[in-house]
Formats: sequence, structure tokens, C-alpha cells
Amino acid sequence: MSTRTQTPPDAEPTQRTPLVVRTRSELRDAQLRWALTGPLEHADPDAGPGQRAVVMTMGALHDGHLELVRRARAEAGPSGQVLVTIFVNPLQFGAGEDLATYPRDLDGDVAKLAGVGADVVFAPTLDVVYPDGDPVVRVSAGHIGEVLEGESRPGHLDGVLTVVLKLMHLVRPDVALFGEKDAQQLLAVRRMVRDLEVPVEVVGVATVREPDGLALSSRNAYLSADERERALALSRALRAGAAAADRGAAGVINAAQQVLDGADGVVVDYLALVDPVTVQTVADDFSGRALLLVAARVGTTRLIDNQAIEVSPEVQR
Ligand code: PAJ
Repeated sequence: MSTRTQTPPDAEPTQRTPLVVRTRSELRDAQLRWALTGPLEHADPDAGPGQRAVVMTMGALHDGHLELVRRARAEAGPSGQVLVTIFVNPLQFGAGEDLATYPRDLDGDVAKLAGVGADVVFAPTLDVVYPDGDPVVRVSAGHIGEVLEGESRPGHLDGVLTVVLKLMHLVRPDVALFGEKDAQQLLAVRRMVRDLEVPVEVVGVATVREPDGLALSSRNAYLSADERERALALSRALRAGAAAADRGAAGVINAAQQVLDGADGVVVDYLALVDPVTVQTVADDFSGRALLLVAARVGTTRLIDNQAIEVSPEVQR
């Protein structure tokens, strides 16, 4: 059943509680209805027709997700439609990962989405997304899926791209927004869209952080108070790397590594400075825009973070 909770008819579009749809036909209905009446109901008559914008998530929403939705509202325009998908995709979880325990709270998520500009929440069940069971034909992230995250999580990015492409076909957005927090994922999505001619514009949104620097993540909920404190080493290492931007690529890595070396209870998975298009480690004499990426385990929780850095060649001192 589709449900629109009671919202006063004169409420601002951005204050509305989104319509929750669970099936393909409910989604199609919501889109058709929007095409017929949405712009008339909600729009500034002088605004253009608006775009359909999507934010794909696995739920357990936090301010990082909500920022993507706000940006989606801005991209869509007042008469456009903003859809948020909530689906915990088994294809992108490896054996021994947290698929079973991944936090799920649809009602809480829908409540958080009221007031940030989402029109529709598409929260399909497993059999709606994969009616024939596990898909036989899948998307490969190629070498992007084999390095860094791919080394620790083989097949992860292939699983992400497969569901992202499926959701794009189901939702048919004009614009899709992804967070820079998951930089390798964003690069893989951009590459898929380009390589497979997917008719969508991909917009990246800057990482939302806590005031102390910790990047917001649904997995932060797993951290004890002590682990949360230790987890600050990731963002501190990235800031140290950025502050060493004029010491060349090796200087950047060394500065970040020093912070991680001094951090107790943080088991580093990788620290790498890569070319933001090829995702290959840059040479020591590299100069230009690079991405500094870190992944580490704090207790049993695996965290990732990254920062773009304009690296200049080392100045001889
Ligand atoms: P999820 O981890 O729920 O993240 C959904 C989106 O929110 C992603 O684009 C992610 O990069 C973005 N995001 C998460 N934390 C953020 C932060 N602190 N600041 C800015 N953006 C942030 O990423 C996934 O889900 C899945 O892999 C998905 C793309 C939905 C495919 O299943």
C-alpha cells in the first residue's frame, strides 16, 4: 500500500512527508501521478518543468544522506521530483560482512526525510529488486573494483554498480547524487555512466563531517565512545596529508602515515594517494589533483574516508 501521511494542504513542498512506495507499480504510479498533477500542485508557475533526481541509499539515514537529498531538491527544482531509494543490497556485501546486522529503520528514515525535500521514498523488498533471484548478468567495475576497496572487498563495487544500474532503470532519473565520502564508488558510478552510455547526470556531494572531523557514516553507530575517539585518526591523517600538499606525493603520504602510526587501536587497511580518474597510485614526482584515501578497522568496524589534495612538487628546502 502507498501511504501519504497527513500533511496540511498548504504545507511547503519541502515540509511534506514523502510518499512511501514498496513495489514497481507503486513507483510507476507515483511517477505518473507526479507527471500529471505534481507540477500543478507544487510548482511555482514560472518555474520550468523540473528534473527527476534520485538519491540511492541503504537507509540508516544521517545528515550526510540528508545533505544529498537537499542537493537533489535543488537539482530537481521546485516542480521536479526527488526520489530516495532505501535498499540494503546483498550483492555488495561479502561473506562475513554486516548484511544481517546492517541497521534498518524505515519509519525512522521516512521521518528524517520529512522537511528536506524528498517527494517519494522507494523502499523495495529483495524480491522486488531481484525477482528472479541473484542476477545472472552483472556490471563489472573492471580494475576500479579490484584495487583499494576491491582488495579488501572483492566483488563489492560490482554489486554496487549492478544495483545502481537497476535502480536507475527502475527510477529513470535525470540526475543521480552520490557522496564523495565513498570516493571509489562515485568514480566507479561515473565510469559506468560514461562507459555504458547511461542517460543520467551524476552529481558528487562533498563529505559531511561531525564538528570534530569524523565523516558521517551509518557504520559509526557500531563504535563505542572509546572507538569513536580513536576513529578520529582517519580524518586527522587526511588533514595532515593535505597540509603537506607542497611536499610532493611522498610527503603527503608520509605525513598521513605518521598520524596513523601514532594511533592506538586503528588497524590500517590501506592509505593511498591516487589519480582521481584511473584510481592508480600516483608516482612520487606527481603534481596535480589527487585523492588521498584511507580505510581502517577500529574495533570490528571498518571505516573509510578520503580527501582531495592539490599536490605540488616538493620544494627543495
Ligand atoms: P549508503 O552507504 O547508504 O550511502 C548512500 C549515499 O550517501 C552514497 O552516495 C554515500 O556516498 C552518501 N554518503 C554517506 N555518508 C556520507 C557523508 N558523510 N557525506 C556525504 N555523503 C555521504 O553507498 C551506498 O549506500 C550504497 O552503496 C548504494 C549506492 C545505495 C548502492 O547500494
